Amino acid sequence: MSRFPTVRQRRLRRTPALRRAFAETRLHPAALVLPVFVKQGLQGHTPIASMPGVAQHGVDSVVALARTAVEAGLGGMILFGIPTTKDAEGTGGWDPQGPVPAAIRAIRAEVGDELVVWADVCQCEYTDHGHCGPLDAAGRVINDLAVEGYVRDAVAYADAGADLVAPSGMMDGQVAAIRGGLDAAGHEQVGIVAYAAKFASAFYGPFRDAAESTMRDGDRAGHQMDPANAREARRELDLDAAEGADALMVKPALPYLDVVAAARAGADLPVAAYHVSGEYAMIKAAAANGWLDGERAMAEAVLSVLRAGADQVLTYAALELAAPAEER
Ligand code: PBG
Repeated sequence: MSRFPTVRQRRLRRTPALRRAFAETRLHPAALVLPVFVKQGLQGHTPIASMPGVAQHGVDSVVALARTAVEAGLGGMILFGIPTTKDAEGTGGWDPQGPVPAAIRAIRAEVGDELVVWADVCQCEYTDHGHCGPLDAAGRVINDLAVEGYVRDAVAYADAGADLVAPSGMMDGQVAAIRGGLDAAGHEQVGIVAYAAKFASAFYGPFRDAAESTMRDGDRAGHQMDPANAREARRELDLDAAEGADALMVKPALPYLDVVAAARAGADLPVAAYHVSGEYAMIKAAAANGWLDGERAMAEAVLSVLRAGADQVLTYAALELAAPAEER
């Protein structure tokens, strides 16, 4: 390699136009998926204190947001439901009149197929104890019963018109079971984005306020992954690919960029990464204190997830990143 002064790395960084032309990674709206909270029976929307700029939405408000998402060219929207009543099994998850099926039908009526609609599949928003499925006497989630619920959830969301279902419960065998259930119900065209490597993370804190899914007691360390483990993450990714996932997700994003890169290197399936509530809230809080430039920090964070190898980033900042600053 020839050296300085022949080689000058600064040449291609000299002007904004040069930098734009030689950028290796781009923040394109189609690579961004907006997570949305739909609350049964709500009129309008209610802001979430720990996530500035994010709200719980009633069905009408979700429909308006879907229209905005289409206009912004987003890659999609992923829906989370907040039911009016909860029980020990989380039966509200598969209620065809529940918040998520109602929202999906209303979105389809408004925007047709113009928006990719994902539905998160988990029981934690629907159980009165806040865990991801029914519990045994020791308070542990019963894997196979939880999976039966996820299959019913997935079919209900597919019936309502979801393009993609995204099982986030980290139960063993959930992807294969959902694939079988969808196919048996005639939904062989509905895809599965597997939350394959989902870690037991402190960064989900604000989400649990937003989704009203705080656990009565205990934690999720018995099924979500240990933050220390990257080899095990590769195994999870391989297993979900083998079970028939159409795309693989890593979650959270920034603390696990090594896992995002490993997912990209180890599989030819599309890779999604979830820039979660705590990652978003940290930047918003620091920006509100004047400690950093929130807009630039958010763009840099999400760009880094794409650079690590994600094809899609789920982020609460999707709309603000999609709209050029001068249009905001
Ligand atoms: C479970 C689920 C969670 C998140 C997405 N799906 C919470 C959890 O596992 O406790 C977290 C997302 C975020 O923090 O933004 N249904």
